[in-house]
Amino acid sequence: MSEPVLQLRHLSVDYPTRAGVVRGADDINLTVYRGEVLGLVGESGCGKSTTGAAIMRLLRPPGKIAGGEIIFDGQNLMELSAEEMRRLRGARLSMIFQDPLTCLNPLQRVSDHIVETIQTHRPEVSEKDARKQAAELLDRLGIRAERLDDYPHQLSGGMRQRVMIGLALALNVDLIIADEPTTSLDVIVEAQFLDQLRDLQRQFNLTIILITHNIGVVAELADRVAVMYAGKLMELADVRLLFDDPLHPYTRGLLGSVPNINLTDDNLQIMGGSPPDLINPPSGCKFHPRCPRAIERCQVEEPSFKEVRPEHWSACWLYE
Ligand SMILES: Nc1ncnc2c1ncn2[C@@H]1O[C@H](COP(=O)(O)OP(=O)(O)OP(=O)(O)O)[C@@H](O)[C@H]1O
Ligand SMILES: [Mg+2]
Repeated sequence: MSEPVLQLRHLSVDYPTRAGVVRGADDINLTVYRGEVLGLVGESGCGKSTTGAAIMRLLRPPGKIAGGEIIFDGQNLMELSAEEMRRLRGARLSMIFQDPLTCLNPLQRVSDHIVETIQTHRPEVSEKDARKQAAELLDRLGIRAERLDDYPHQLSGGMRQRVMIGLALALNVDLIIADEPTTSLDVIVEAQFLDQLRDLQRQFNLTIILITHNIGVVAELADRVAVMYAGKLMELADVRLLFDDPLHPYTRGLLGSVPNINLTDDNLQIMGGSPPDLINPPSGCKFHPRCPRAIERCQVEEPSFKEVRPEHWSACWLYE
């Protein structure tokens, strides 16, 4: 594998609320390598956005990092000041959300967004050259010259997402965290956007953490997949390996709920119930109340997340 861009070590996030402390991410250990697309999947409320936002140090209040390290390019982000973090976010890390309208200045034309981004980070580039680069970049993203002077609200959702990718490309960021980037798009536009994202990813060797509840999107784009449940990592493997031979009963349940994935009957499991309340999570393995294969030990002791086969990680007593 290539060099690590990001390493999460024992990362935990708490949301102190009136009802109690919600542990949104719990002891996450994960390495992201340059040039890979890492899919982060799991049911709603399992901690995907929390993990993504923690990396950017952009947690919504009252969220705070309760422990652990975020090593980005050899540096522990926990040690940076707010100002240093702001600079890093602009220049080397980029987050793409479900609705890019909230991130784009409504009063700024598309071309100006890109020109300003280029000039902020590379002041030596003249306005004329920055305009030329912006036009080339947008052309590459399939946004034609006549749209350059449009405002964000005049663009379709798919185009806005492409502008967000364009901003990340203009900066040549080291890591893109995309949180449900296609959820607001209709299926046709989603398919086009995913095609284009895949092309750009290959062309520019982009490193992307792709957060989604959509297993189909992961199948299409991800190189590796991390599965989360109740704030914990449950399984991590190459996408083919994960689909062909899922180890964790939760992963099997998750894949079993997707109609178009070919799983052998052995692997298919229908999952009942719903994720736990994270203020009072179950003892032991947090999945045990829903797990069809739970044994006594699962109720009392939490399994650690470990490499149970080469490059295949899981947190489950079945593989001890
Ligand atoms: N601002 C907040 N205040 C309190 N609790 C929060 C806050 N944001 C998230 N949580 C809790 O943290 C846990 C993880 O939520 P998170 O949003 O990370 O899940 P998710 O996997 O991104 O879900 P979804 O698929 O619905 O986007 C949930 O239990 C959620 O209720
Ligand atoms: Mg989310």
